[in-house]
Amino acid sequence: MAKILVAFGDIHYPQHTAVSVEILKKTVARLKPHISVSLGDLLDCGQFSQHPPTWGVPETDYEADLKEANGLIDFVQKHTRERIVLIEGNHEYRLDRWAAQHAEGRGAYNLLAPRIQLMRGRRGCTYIPYGSANGRYPHWKVNSRIIAVHGWSYAVNAARRHLQMSQGKSVLFGHTHHLCTVCQQNIFGGDTIRAISCGCLCNPVPLYGTGRPVEWVNGFVIGYLGRRSDTLFTVDIKGDFAILPDGTEIMA
Ligand SMILES: [Fe+2]
Repeated sequence: MAKILVAFGDIHYPQHTAVSVEILKKTVARLKPHISVSLGDLLDCGQFSQHPPTWGVPETDYEADLKEANGLIDFVQKHTRERIVLIEGNHEYRLDRWAAQHAEGRGAYNLLAPRIQLMRGRRGCTYIPYGSANGRYPHWKVNSRIIAVHGWSYAVNAARRHLQMSQGKSVLFGHTHHLCTVCQQNIFGGDTIRAISCGCLCNPVPLYGTGRPVEWVNGFVIGYLGRRSDTLFTVDIKGDFAILPDGTEIMA
């Protein structure tokens, strides 16, 4: 039997869509994935941004956001059979930049940093930091054919760009909040390679936007990882329900 993977990203606590997060939780509880991957921007970390607070979003307490994020990861981990992976996003990385710029930040870093506070006391969990001292793109290798990253591009054609950059591997990414797949023949034979933008689980209206429709879609990815090949499905959330690849309807 193939192993089951669930990948989700861009929850942006406290700007999450509660109904969509609930659907993710019920999906994980039902499928009991072998591997669960959070693709980053689990926390918005708006409190550490140099930009003024986003209009319409009440400022929340960072520690409360951290507690919610940890609660979700606890839940996902409880229902994950082998390993949970937390890939850091540019929003969590805000805290590192803030700490580098403020003496106060350096003092409080260990108490605040997601890479420390989300990992405290966890076993069977891997954290992939956003910054990379050696200049290489941080990623997590799902298996020999697939990698997972927060996102290397925010361009309209981000999925295509990821495919060009992934050097013959399939790539799962977040960051763009789009739910989109681009496939390509593998010229060396074997599996089709694909780049999948895995959707988001946050408020799908960009708060800095001007009200024009955008391609932000609440959703996530379910994968079946075989010995020689994999199948990856995108699951879009339809308000208060989603339909899984096996036909199960998950209600919030
Ligand atoms: Fe991001």
